[in-house]
Amino acid sequence: MKAIRGATTITKDAAEEVKSAVGELLNEIYRRNALSGDEVISIQFTNTADIRSYYPAKAAREAGFFSAPLFSAQEPEINGALPLCIRVMLLVENDKTPVHVYLRGAATLRKDITEVINIALDGPAGGGKSTVSKLVANKLNILCLDTGAMYRACALKFLNDDVNINDINEVEKAVARLDLRVEYKDGKQLTLLNGNDVSAEIRKNEISMLASTVSALESVRNKMVELQREIAANTSCILDGRDIGTNVLPNAKYKFYLTASDDVRAERRCGELLAKGQSADFNQIKNEIIKRDLQDKTRKIAPLKQADDAIFIDSSLMTAEQVADFIVNKIQEKI
Ligand code: DC
Repeated sequence: MKAIRGATTITKDAAEEVKSAVGELLNEIYRRNALSGDEVISIQFTNTADIRSYYPAKAAREAGFFSAPLFSAQEPEINGALPLCIRVMLLVENDKTPVHVYLRGAATLRKDITEVINIALDGPAGGGKSTVSKLVANKLNILCLDTGAMYRACALKFLNDDVNINDINEVEKAVARLDLRVEYKDGKQLTLLNGNDVSAEIRKNEISMLASTVSALESVRNKMVELQREIAANTSCILDGRDIGTNVLPNAKYKFYLTASDDVRAERRCGELLAKGQSADFNQIKNEIIKRDLQDKTRKIAPLKQADDAIFIDSSLMTAEQVADFIVNKIQEKI
């Protein structure tokens, strides 16, 4: 069970204000946490002693929030407390990371739990980004968004639908039709195409080069970047990709660029493919990686490049655990 916190303020002690503030606060908490009614176990309000016109719990019931038990209590009068403030705590049962919601005058109250942390982790294939992202996300209890998976899913869709990637109009139509979503189950990212989980299929080696090619197309990038920004705006997460620090989230507070020597990266990719029962030839993989890097670094739109303010990490002689600890320490120094 988890607790989601929230608060808001009203401008005067009037029943209508309490009703609309409570409706707005609960709707926002449900929306930002993608909550369904059956995940919510209880909703408890408190309000400052200067609110006497209406019970927040009653306002919640009237706004349609009656599937969970509701409760209101009045806070003691405390000098210096934020006036006309309604606080809420929802107990919920689900796998999602809680998003706490502080609105209006209450927006300044709990920076410690409401600050959305976005970490940009860019670098070439095989540097260890995805393993490291998962470790960092786990250590900081945030999500990780593998943006490469989104380009891979797009490539898979284009391959299945036989989209001619040299025809801009055809590509634009295919992008407009694309039903691509990212969901999390037990903290693990699922990449969905038309509602079907394609997380395993997009890892096939033949999709890698096509993903790189597709990712250079303007309409594809625009769509992916829009989706990535939407996710990052409301969710603390580490995003691994090629252009996160330079283009998707240029204002991210935490940026890292992770790479390793060509040989080490090729060895890692071989290991991953073999572990999945796929064939892997070291020299072929190394050449593919070098070719893909070149394509990713030299494309016109948002090429792979270290952001000026990103911290450079060479993981050739480091374990993923060491890299993750290094990143977490750097973040904690800055928080
Ligand atoms: O990280 P990956 O190997 O799964 O990424 C597949 C391709 O997608 C990669 O070669 C380049 C592209 N990509 C991108 O252009 N921008 C990103 N943010 C992530 C991936």
